[in-house]
Amino acid sequence: MHSLNPTPRILLGPGPSTLPPSVLRAMAAPMVGYLDPQLMVYLGEIQEMLRYTFQTANEWTFPLSGTGTAGMEAALANFIEPGDAVLVLVNGYFGARLAEIALRHRAQVDTIEHPWGQVFTPQEVETALERKPYKLLALVHMETSTGTLQPQVAEIASAAHRHGALVLLDTVASLGGAPVAVDAWDLDIVYSGSQKCLSAPPGMAPITISERARRSLETRRTPVDVWYLDLPLIARYWGETHAYHHPPPISSLYGLHESLRLIVEEGLEARFARHRANAERLWEGLEALGMDFFVPQEYRSPTLSTPLVPDGVDEAAVRRRLLEEYDLEIAGGFGPLAGKIWRVGLMGYSSSRANVDLLLTALEGMVKAE
Ligand SMILES: Cc1ncc(COP(=O)(O)O)c(C=O)c1O
Repeated sequence: MHSLNPTPRILLGPGPSTLPPSVLRAMAAPMVGYLDPQLMVYLGEIQEMLRYTFQTANEWTFPLSGTGTAGMEAALANFIEPGDAVLVLVNGYFGARLAEIALRHRAQVDTIEHPWGQVFTPQEVETALERKPYKLLALVHMETSTGTLQPQVAEIASAAHRHGALVLLDTVASLGGAPVAVDAWDLDIVYSGSQKCLSAPPGMAPITISERARRSLETRRTPVDVWYLDLPLIARYWGETHAYHHPPPISSLYGLHESLRLIVEEGLEARFARHRANAERLWEGLEALGMDFFVPQEYRSPTLSTPLVPDGVDEAAVRRRLLEEYDLEIAGGFGPLAGKIWRVGLMGYSSSRANVDLLLTALEGMVKAE
């Protein structure tokens, strides 16, 4: 049996990102009970720092136990009753997954579909909403399968509200790396994942719920069909009564607390500027190596870049060499983009000038030598 001693890697894939040393240290703090008064203080601080990060005053703002997919499942399951009409915008793998999860909760699902890599306009969403009433409109902010950042989310949300629909936004791959303004954009149900731009370990899914969405839960005719992710029950643990639902993964909460503290310390504006500057440095460097991009610059995410694999280059061999020779991880594409793009994440702590320069130097030898 091995004793656990993995070689540290520089994680420049679509998540997890590299953990700051202080997050690792925080996770080694002593275990306490799930009702320990010390933990209650940290729970309150996590909520406060999540509100800052989501840019919201929503009372229901807390992390769920589980990865980003737990956020997706909770966001849909709590607001769907069998037969409810849901409109999902699909331009990549994660939009399609939202539609699939909504179907499993027995929604009646319609989609607006675009080829992978394209974005949606508020006008086309409004046109779809005019045709039929929907309970919920769901979309992905940053499509991790393509590296596309959906613009005009606030305009799309206001179209949805004009037609009486709640708005659900997936920010798993954008929160903490690109602006997400829950209150200013008037969003109702927004979730994320801990392991990407927040740079905490995988396993927590922060979620925030508007008053409008909370009120809609009061008129449910049927109980939420996933007990573990029932938001009103979970909110009782995070609220003043601290009622037992399940013990949260306390070491992961320690890690999340520290990662959020680092976000508050850096400040959101400075953090977004850092992500953008490092992404632009990467784009310029890759262009200088003769590479093109899957996504046009105006829709490119500062958190994940998707350069096209140059002709004649074995993309998997490059990834293998980066890992073996540089301890550096990037990802390939999947689905229709398998073998065609790389996915380079500059998320959270991984978004540094030093990482960009190391990757560019390493790639220069490999792409040209192939
Ligand atoms: C946009 C998006 N949504 C949801 C998820 C699911 O999150 P997880 O893999 O943490 O369960 C991911 C993961 O990559 C994602 O990128």
